Amino acid sequence: MKIIANLKMNKTPSQTLDYFMNIVPKSSDFKHELIFCVPFTSLTIGKYLTQNTNIQLGAQNLSDEDEGACTGEISGSMIKDAGANFVIIGHSERRSKFKENNKLINKKIKMALKNRLTSILCIGESLAEKNTLKTADVLKEQLEEGLKGIYENELENIIIAYEPIWAIGTGKIPTVKEISNSIDVIRKVIAQDFSLNAGKNICVVYGGSVNNKNISQISKVKNINGFLVGGASLEPSGFLQLITSVSD
Ligand code: PGA
Repeated sequence: MKIIANLKMNKTPSQTLDYFMNIVPKSSDFKHELIFCVPFTSLTIGKYLTQNTNIQLGAQNLSDEDEGACTGEISGSMIKDAGANFVIIGHSERRSKFKENNKLINKKIKMALKNRLTSILCIGESLAEKNTLKTADVLKEQLEEGLKGIYENELENIIIAYEPIWAIGTGKIPTVKEISNSIDVIRKVIAQDFSLNAGKNICVVYGGSVNNKNISQISKVKNINGFLVGGASLEPSGFLQLITSVSD
């Protein structure tokens, strides 16, 4: 299983140092793949502290441009050089607060591929879309526009994170059946647009209010490859406990 922590805009570099000092000594106890998506400013310290461990680092965004006159932006090559192998793209907070659309997200995925970063593409429906039974349509559109022009052999460097917007940071989670249905939709769209094998092999994780209490329940989802954890990843001992509860 892949367990991805999304620290969001939390932890200064010195707090990141403390955080990894608590996590790293325990990380070899787990067979899971552990990926920590930290703020840009924490990548370098994270790289130093996680050397020769089973922990991988990710960023939470990247520029759609290579380099140059983009004041305040961070490029894929900067992220890669700072120690990341992964990058979250299209998180709902970026879609809503920073007005990122599927077209821009598609450009960012191509930029990530160019810089040998694995994209964690976040997709998911709002509560209104869920209530009007539009989940499948929303997922299809976000996938097809986000992955436009991507070649099948590039999908091994793309993880799809199913994150219902209404479940992020709210303590509410979908039922096992709802998660399973959405993951089936994702695999079906990939199978139709690429190949049956691609649909089977694409890595799909669930995110949205995953915590110590509900992880064993969500782990019952059959077609899942891992989890994206926000709030519950911030406190090391609680997060380590969460990882312990994930079945292989
Ligand atoms: P949450 O966040 O676990 O705090 O709901 C998940 C995410 O936004 O990736």
